[in-house]
Amino acid sequence: MSVHPISHPLVKHKLGLMRAADISTKSFRELACEVAKLLTYEATQNLEMEPATIEGWNGSPIEVEQIKGKKVTIVPILRAGLGMLDGVTDLIPSARISVVGLYRNEETLEPVPYFEKFVSALDERLAIVIDPMLATGGSMVATLDMLKERGCQQIKVIVLVAAPEGIERVEKAYPDIEIYTASIDERLDENGYIVPGLGDAGDKIFGTR
Ligand code: URA
Repeated sequence: MSVHPISHPLVKHKLGLMRAADISTKSFRELACEVAKLLTYEATQNLEMEPATIEGWNGSPIEVEQIKGKKVTIVPILRAGLGMLDGVTDLIPSARISVVGLYRNEETLEPVPYFEKFVSALDERLAIVIDPMLATGGSMVATLDMLKERGCQQIKVIVLVAAPEGIERVEKAYPDIEIYTASIDERLDENGYIVPGLGDAGDKIFGTR
């Protein structure tokens, strides 16, 4: 299965708080980070481990397990994805950051990249793409296309809320990619907002609403 709705009580509770109409920018931003961190914990459950021998506290060698040298790049999609970044880097502090920005061509309605800065050696890295809302899936698929074109072989997606329409679009384009989300909501409304959703996550994170 490629979609993982995370039903941990902390995730559900925090997401519920984020849905309130009168939430402050401060609270929304903090909760976006906290939920992103919890989803990162789930998304990294299957990272490969390897044994290592280290010197323990009393000078004796100890066998431990360490995450196998897989390099990670986190890929926030501008601008709302930045609101999840601290939560993810809290758990993967050595990860490199790649950034993608897309705008919508109003004639074709297709996403067009206006900014991209990828770290090196994408073919050796696990990429974790982050965006709070997986709505139509257009920006997400365009970002996944960019990563695949650059040789990235292992990609995971973390979103706070997903619409069935967005999940379907990503699954159709990339059935092998795992999506981690705090909720699969009902649908998109006529303006492309997820219902019940969170409203405009970028505006709420940046305080521009
Ligand atoms: N982007 C948002 O910020 N919210 C939605 O509901 C859909 C897309």
